[in-house]
Parts: sequence; structure tokens; C-alpha cells
Amino acid sequence: MAKGNSIKMKEVDENEIVLSVRDVTVAIDGKLILDKLSLDIRRGEILGFVGASGAGKSVLLRTILGLLRKQSGTIKLFGVDVDKASDMERLRVDMRLGVLFQHGALFSALTVQENVQVPMREYLDLPRKLMDELALLKIELVGLPPDAAQKFPSELSGGMIKRAALARALALDPDIVFLDEPTSGLDPISAAEFDELVVKLRDTMDLTVYMVTHDLDTLFTACDHVAVLGKKKVLVEGTIDDMLKSEEPWVKSYFRGKRARQLDLAARA
Ligand SMILES: Nc1ncnc2c1ncn2[C@@H]1O[C@H](COP(=O)(O)OP(=O)(O)OP(=O)(O)O)[C@@H](O)[C@H]1O
Ligand SMILES: [Mg+2]
Repeated sequence: MAKGNSIKMKEVDENEIVLSVRDVTVAIDGKLILDKLSLDIRRGEILGFVGASGAGKSVLLRTILGLLRKQSGTIKLFGVDVDKASDMERLRVDMRLGVLFQHGALFSALTVQENVQVPMREYLDLPRKLMDELALLKIELVGLPPDAAQKFPSELSGGMIKRAALARALALDPDIVFLDEPTSGLDPISAAEFDELVVKLRDTMDLTVYMVTHDLDTLFTACDHVAVLGKKKVLVEGTIDDMLKSEEPWVKSYFRGKRARQLDLAARA
């Protein structure tokens, strides 16, 4: 998909494989969840990662982030094999990742500004004033009003919480963000606005986006590439058109069900 008229701050290789997952097998408590799963994501791409509930989408995400142990396989981020990386290399890789988790998007006892500053405190040694300014910039970047900075998560709407969590994921100016169902629970308009924001950020910041989603609107409007998790691996991957042509039963009913057909017609109108 063609990218927007972004002003490139740096030369980027759009063929660069930002994330490479090869033959990754994960078992939890003796139960096989992922079996030799492979997946690539290229720079600047918005990948939509779909699959039935309980298929293992969040498990894969947590494995990529190093929060869950894999039994076998290789994961490379920015060409660095995470198993072979030195502590310093691993730290450099971690600083280039942003994450919005499916559950517990924000710390409830911290204000939005303090939440956004969590990764900054963890990885950077910056004066308080600078951190405050940086956090406010991120808060503005995701379309929140400046007065949201001093609010606690309980004082925000669902859509604002997602935006604040996105601001925290962007705290360190990452090269790739992992978003686990960022629009779940939002009304269709707020969800569409969130999708637009993600596309805008990709276009202006050369961001690569790995998005776990159940949201067909998101898949049709925001994602360049779709990967479907099924039978413990990536069953099918490609463009939305490839999904629409797939004869794989789950993919067929998901992408060619009644609701999907309506969306497809609307997108092509
Ligand atoms: N910490 C854990 N301990 C035990 N089992 C787990 C753990 N985390 C995940 N699982 C199991 O792994 C499987 C995959 O779960 P996962 O959360 O990755 O699904 P998912 O595809 O993200 O589903 P959803 O779309 O509902 O979020 C499920 O059977 C789940 O019960
Ligand atoms: Mg999940």
C-alpha cells in the first residue's frame, strides 16, 4: 500500500525486515500453543494479526517481547537474534519497541503523564522538566487534550485510555509498536478514529505496527498485511484481497461472512 506524503527524517529501507519469527514453538504447562510458527513484518507495514479467541495471539506477542519462554525457534528484531544478543544489544532493541497490552493498559494509581513517563524512567535518565515536556508532546500526538495529562485512568473514557496507552507505547519514539486489540470495547466511531491515528503515526513517524485485532473495520481500512493464526501457526497471510480469496474455512467465514461483505462493499464504493 502506498504510504502518505511523509517527510522522511531519515533514510529508511522499506524492505528491512523489522521482525522475523522462525519456527517458534511455545508450550504452556505442557500444552502446545504455537507450533513452528513463522512470520515476518517489514518496516512501515501495518500488520493485522487475527485468529480465533484463545488461538495464541497474545501468547505470540508476549513471546516476541521476551515475556514468555519459547521451546524452540528464532526471533529476530531489527536483525538481532534476541537469544544471542548481549545485555547491551537487548537493551537497545527493547528501547526501539513500544507496547499496548490487551489488559491493564495503564497503571490506575498514576496520572496519564506519569504513565507515559514509565518507559522514560525505566530506560532514560532525564531531568524532570524535560520528561514532563516529552510526556505532554506524546499526549498531544495521540490527540488527547493537554488537561488529560493530570487525570487518572478512572477519569477517562475508554477511547481516551487507549490513546493514553498509545502515548505510553510511543514514549521512547519506538520503531515498532505492538498493539494487542487496541480498539476492543470502543464504539465504531472511536475505533475508526483510533485506526486513523495509527495510520497517521505510521506515515509521519516511519512506524511499523503489529496489531492484534478482531476488528474487521480495522483490517479493511488500516492494515496493509494480514496474518491469520490457526492450527497453532500462521495459516494464511497476505493482503485483504488474499484473505477474500482464501478457501481456508475459518478465513472464509471470517472475511466473507455477512458483516465482512458489507464492509468490503463499502470500502470499494
Ligand atoms: N499464563 C498462562 N498460563 C496458562 N495458559 C495460558 C497463559 N496464557 C495463555 N494461556 C493459554 O494459551 C492459549 C492462547 O491464549 P492467548 O491469550 O494467546 O489467546 P488469544 O489468541 O490472544 O485470544 P483472545 O483473542 O481472546 O485475546 C489459551 O488456551 C490460554 O488459555
Ligand atoms: Mg489476546
